[in-house]
Amino acid sequence: MEAKSPNTIYLKDYKEPAFLVNTIDLNVALDADLTKVKSTLGIMRNPKMPEQKSLVLQGDALTLNEIQLNGTPLTPADYTLSNNELIIKDAPEEFSLMIETQFSPRENTTLNGLYLSGDILCTQCEAEGFRRITYFPDRPDVMSLYTTTIIADKQKYPVLLSNGNLIDSGLLGDGKHWVKWQDPYRKPSYLFALVAGNLGCAEDSFVTRSGRSVALKVYVEPGNEVNCTYALQSLKNAMRWDELRFGRGYDLDTYMIVAVSDFNMGAMENKGLNIFNAKYILANPAIATDQDYEFIEAVIAHEYFHNWTGNRVTCRDWFQLSLKEGLTIFREHEFCADQQSREVERIKNVRKLRLEQFPQDEGPMAHPVRPDSYIEINNFYTVTIYEKGAEVIRMLQTMLGRDTFRQGMDIYFARHDGHAVTIEDFVQAMEAASGRDLTQFRRWYTQAGTPELYVTSNYDSANCRYTLRLEQVCPPTPMQTSKEPFLIPVTVSLFDLMGQPLPLQMSGSLNEATEQIMEMTQSVQEFQFNNITSYPIPSLLRDFSAPVKLRYPYTTQDLLVLMRHDTDSFNRWEAVQTIENRLILQLIDEDKSGAALCLPVWFTDAFAENLSVRNQNLQYLALLLALPSDKDLANEMTIILVEPIFKIHKFVKRELATQLKDQWMAIYKEYNDNKPYQFNAIAVGQRSLKNIALSYLMANPTDEIRQLCLRQFVNADNMTDSLAALVCLSQVDCPERVEALNKFYDKWQNEPLVLDKWFAIQAQSHLPNTLEVVKQLITHPKFNWINPNRVRSVIGVFAMLNDINFHALNGDGYAFLADQIIHLDNLNPQVAARLCEPLTRWRRHIPERQALMKKQLFRIMSTPNLSRDVYEIVSKSSG
Ligand code: BES
Ligand code: ZN
Repeated sequence: MEAKSPNTIYLKDYKEPAFLVNTIDLNVALDADLTKVKSTLGIMRNPKMPEQKSLVLQGDALTLNEIQLNGTPLTPADYTLSNNELIIKDAPEEFSLMIETQFSPRENTTLNGLYLSGDILCTQCEAEGFRRITYFPDRPDVMSLYTTTIIADKQKYPVLLSNGNLIDSGLLGDGKHWVKWQDPYRKPSYLFALVAGNLGCAEDSFVTRSGRSVALKVYVEPGNEVNCTYALQSLKNAMRWDELRFGRGYDLDTYMIVAVSDFNMGAMENKGLNIFNAKYILANPAIATDQDYEFIEAVIAHEYFHNWTGNRVTCRDWFQLSLKEGLTIFREHEFCADQQSREVERIKNVRKLRLEQFPQDEGPMAHPVRPDSYIEINNFYTVTIYEKGAEVIRMLQTMLGRDTFRQGMDIYFARHDGHAVTIEDFVQAMEAASGRDLTQFRRWYTQAGTPELYVTSNYDSANCRYTLRLEQVCPPTPMQTSKEPFLIPVTVSLFDLMGQPLPLQMSGSLNEATEQIMEMTQSVQEFQFNNITSYPIPSLLRDFSAPVKLRYPYTTQDLLVLMRHDTDSFNRWEAVQTIENRLILQLIDEDKSGAALCLPVWFTDAFAENLSVRNQNLQYLALLLALPSDKDLANEMTIILVEPIFKIHKFVKRELATQLKDQWMAIYKEYNDNKPYQFNAIAVGQRSLKNIALSYLMANPTDEIRQLCLRQFVNADNMTDSLAALVCLSQVDCPERVEALNKFYDKWQNEPLVLDKWFAIQAQSHLPNTLEVVKQLITHPKFNWINPNRVRSVIGVFAMLNDINFHALNGDGYAFLADQIIHLDNLNPQVAARLCEPLTRWRRHIPERQALMKKQLFRIMSTPNLSRDVYEIVSKSSG
């Protein structure tokens, strides 16, 4: 990897491009070892930028063969060529530029640009990969019409794909063939795609609301066509949903998806030709878990939704990334909520935000939803841009109401279709629809950090007046020491001690309801409720109405009332979580002082109450019964105590397992009905409940229970049950564990996506020798540094999902991770940079761990020829 100068890019420096590229005609002579690309650009000066005279084109890892301006070859005197730019000074008003470049896809291990995945040649151009194919103004505000001719060996590459419509094809004498694709829509270069290979195709079709038939094609390695049914069904569901909910239809005659094994991310929304990590396409009950099915549906929908939020309306520059990603995640969440269970979807989304985004907001990489600067844009595809960005959109929907929000979306599309725009343009569309001034709301886009919301209450029984006092505080983040108050929508209901909802009449409003939105705009603000005739318990921030940390001094009695009676399913779950978090933290304290550990009877009773309420969504019930994880608990501690969390969590789980053993066994038997696998909400609920029962039983495993677990592993007709059993066994040092892991390997060694699970389960084990096992796993013949899924399933899983071993106090876990990052950085900087994240989270650890983590960050930073990607993360995190 060449040493790159780590320059910072600033939003304030944004300038429109000096030249526009109206058309690009690509001629790609494909060869895995040496591909030649002839690109002909129809260029004109941008009338808005008359002062700028030079044409700046980016290039990366390219050899320039030839360049012609209006048919005349240029000599090196006519242009400046550096490592990553080709500059033509004093270019004419309007001209044609032909550039021929060459490069080797086989040597491209970055998986950006054009590269080989197995025998398939494919591209990944977002964010800045197009410049690895040809010299081009590789920025999203340059939108062009693409025509792509591909020439390749017919035997090796029978299928040749690019964006848009196939308009011509033919044979050449030397065993080669060619195809010509044309995309009728203008697009930025990051949405370009090309695929070539020996691919099978699973087909379906969709008739749009306007009556057009769209051919749906999923391309996979031959033999895998049968595993595309669920992906195709999900695509059709997403297409229908976007028509119904947002009035958005598909705009080409064909929608193509290609699944490849080696892919840095989950999937990519290239116009008319999505490219997917195969793990988000291929499914059948034997190889995919319920969770895999859920992810497939979500990712397919996400990339489909980008066709309007991202492609038809795109980003002006990469600081606007959340304009497409935050909005598309919001649309994806809404879609999934409508497909499966809204209450379960909400809890899962909020958990992800809290477990991943809140820590980012607290750490050295904290940044606003619209960042002010970056070094490497690939590092800014973050949970802040995505998940917090989606929450910011959700707040708009909550405050404006669904209908007005929809009108705002319609205005946004009508105003900006075919253009590259900004987050500001989106907010203005919402202002136009609602007639509201959203000036203060914009702070959600510019200020980083998670606001903390401190709430206290006062009940004046004589005057039947209830007052909530809200105070918001946002801690400092890098470059932002003090913050202005946010506009925070806090949805609230009040319940009496019997759990009855109280009618609300906030001062200033006349209508009576049981739920209201308090729009907080000041640092400190009071909200009064009148005619409150009995003592109220507040249910605050219902449905998680804003991405903040709520602090209210609930009593245990309050929480039990909410657990039993809150009409908001999110807050019912939240009440249980709060009870459990508090209890475990309290036990950690008691254990420290040497007291004997004992689970209070009231707690076991309350827990058992939930166990017996079976007349509800079972997936939701499974969430209620899952204890907060190590990570949830760490989130609740000012200073993370890794071993005590592990110990007490285990203790509580084991106690609940032992004391409620009969109930767990009854649930297990009730839902272990050996019905053939089906993927639907009811069946998923039954399996989640059964498998959570199994995990409790296995928290105190007798011989008989281990055998039961092994039987489930062996006899299951589906991966969900088989894997759930294997996960339980993998946490217990017993002969059944070895037997099951070996069987699993023997059965699935040639099925890469399933083998990833085998690697991951071992990397996730809490057993004390896991680091040694992981070190062995990366020398296993099936380990592969080129394949990001495999790398993540071992190294990523160990560092991110195995706190007790990764944070070993001898520092070996940290040193191991640093070694692997340094090694991988030479091959794939983007994936290497993502692996750095666990080391950046040192802030809330004990001083010994902080020192050990920083030591590794410094060691990485002092490595010669570090990529920009890894450099940015470690340099910002080690200070
Ligand atoms: N546009 C992204 C893919 C991408 C990410 C390209 C980073 C380049 C750099 C795509 O729409 C996306 O967001 N994919 C997610 C999955 C999605 C369901 C959240 C991904 O790949 O993780
Ligand atoms: Zn996306």
